[in-house]
Amino acid sequence: MILEGIENKMNGSAHIVVPTSDGSITLDLVPCDPTVHGPFIRAWSRENFAPLMERTVGWNEARNQEEQQVPERYRMVREHDDLIGCLAVREEGDALYLQTIQLVPTRRGRGYGTALLHHVERIAQARGLQRIRLRVYKENPAYDWYRRNKYRVAQVEQHSVIMEKDV
Ligand SMILES: CC(C)(COP(=O)(O)OP(=O)(O)OC[C@H]1O[C@@H](n2cnc3c(N)ncnc32)[C@H](O)[C@@H]1OP(=O)(O)O)[C@@H](O)C(=O)NCCC(=O)NCCS
Repeated sequence: MILEGIENKMNGSAHIVVPTSDGSITLDLVPCDPTVHGPFIRAWSRENFAPLMERTVGWNEARNQEEQQVPERYRMVREHDDLIGCLAVREEGDALYLQTIQLVPTRRGRGYGTALLHHVERIAQARGLQRIRLRVYKENPAYDWYRRNKYRVAQVEQHSVIMEKDV
């Protein structure tokens, strides 16, 4: 696979090296094939966000799974042969909007998410964008995780906040 700088310009694939206690592990980002990966994205999005949203704005399967219909925005995360997560980005003015970042529960707490976040920040820099922007529900434990990763609150809404980080 030929990689040009941060990500392959044609399809967004990339390799991300994550330091571990006994060396490092390489995660592969691969393009989203909606036929193959759609069920994975929908199942984990429902699992991760439906309970949270049912307590606040409500979960509507059709509406809340709508963004998965733009597979170009998605990158699937693989560890060796295992599909372990996904992320999605889109450009929004001078920002790269992080639409979602998800890992399966068995792979959390190992620094993978932070490494993926840094990768997203490098994509923004490589594209000449000024910042990362995202929305997170106040009740989501990821709210604190983003703060610890130096994301600031740019706008407060009833149930969620818009966060930004300059890159
Ligand atoms: C949010 C999410 C992507 C974070 O990914 P993650 O891989 O668990 O994140 P990290 O491992 O990098 O960081 C989590 C914690 O594990 C710790 N950690 C990092 N490397 C570690 C390692 N090698 N071993 C043990 N713990 C480690 C970090 O200290 C961090 O703690 P902190 O939150 O106090 O800073 C993941 O929790 C997730 O998929 N959540 C559900 C979906 C979601 O809510 N997504 C965000 C909104 S779209």
